[in-house]
Amino acid sequence: MASYLSYLRVPVLVSSGVTALLSGLLYFKQNEIIYPRNLPPGARTDVPRPPQFGISDFEELMIPTPDGESLSAFFIRPENKRHARNITILMFHGNAGNIGHRLPIAKILHDDLGCNVLMLQYRGYGMSTGTPNEKGLMVDAQTGLDYVRQRAELKDTKIVLYGQSLGGAVSIGLAARNRNEGDIAAIILENTFLSIRELIPSAFPPAKYLAPLCHQYWSSEEMLPQVTPSIPILFLSGSKDEIVPATHMRQLYDICRSDIKIFKEFPNGTHNDTVAEPGYFNYIDDFLRQHVLRTLRNRTEKSEE
Ligand SMILES: *[C@@H]1O[C@H](CO)[C@@H](O)[C@H](O)[C@H]1NC(C)=O
Ligand SMILES: *[C@@H]1O[C@H](CO)[C@@H](O)[C@H](O)[C@H]1NC(C)=O
Ligand SMILES: *[C@@H]1O[C@H](CO)[C@@H](O)[C@H](O)[C@H]1NC(C)=O
Ligand SMILES: *[C@@H]1O[C@H](CO)[C@@H](O)[C@H](O)[C@H]1NC(C)=O
Repeated sequence: MASYLSYLRVPVLVSSGVTALLSGLLYFKQNEIIYPRNLPPGARTDVPRPPQFGISDFEELMIPTPDGESLSAFFIRPENKRHARNITILMFHGNAGNIGHRLPIAKILHDDLGCNVLMLQYRGYGMSTGTPNEKGLMVDAQTGLDYVRQRAELKDTKIVLYGQSLGGAVSIGLAARNRNEGDIAAIILENTFLSIRELIPSAFPPAKYLAPLCHQYWSSEEMLPQVTPSIPILFLSGSKDEIVPATHMRQLYDICRSDIKIFKEFPNGTHNDTVAEPGYFNYIDDFLRQHVLRTLRNRTEKSEE
């Protein structure tokens, strides 16, 4: 009987050994899983530049952070001065690639929507120095916001945060931490998640029992309710998102306390290509017109129409 028991125990020991090994790996490797900054291959060195997309009025910046990193960024002005709007979009990218990969998005934002755009890449991404982690990325986001605040030509512009995927969590955290400043005019969120922990069971199924070990939180479900309710928020959700289940966006919308919150669904949108779905930029345009420019438009209606 006793030998039977010890026989039965073996697999338990083995599997818990495997669990310990897996959890050790998850614990130490999770930054590589959560921040795959080397994907696609070459993402650290091959950063497409604005002229490749016909963007001419831009600056390439290296913005220093208070903790000694240097963030590479593009600052882009509206091409067509006649359509220029007094809006500055601060763009926060997802967890792979670099800002160069998002230039086609910035091009539409500045060319067609007439916005200034600041796209910065987080520490450890593209040409930025350092290695990514949650604390560091929040410093980077704050650095970008402070940069916009202190740049004289942007003084009279409305600041709009725009975050895709991980960038959505960055935007929410930034808005919550700056709730006493009152200068964020709006937020646009695309395919972002409730928290990394909530994402693990669907995004990394083998690790589903290990979620408690996750040390990168990105808890938007806790931060979003702390965002000032007067900030309008646009939710852009791809129903076919294969990485972040669309239910995350729906739940974020439900817990959002903003007086103005708008949910737009893209029935064919997957995680990476929702941005290319029909209507995407029209929704952003309508949102900016109705909820960001309204006060400016009353002043300038005659010259604009
Ligand atoms: C933008 O702001 C500047 C300075 O406040 C103002 O002169 C200009 O008319 C504004 N432009 C638009 C399109 O609102
Ligand atoms: C989704 O894709 C299907 C098949 O390609 C297409 O018929 C449909 O019009 C698309 N829906 C939208 C809203 O784009
Ligand atoms: C989406 O992008 C990520 C990161 O670049 C990549 O790993 C993934 O394969 C892409 N998914 C699709 C469906 O293209
Ligand atoms: C601007 O116009 C809109 C619609 O006409 C109105 O609802 C809003 O209160 C106006 N805002 C200001 C500051 O006058």
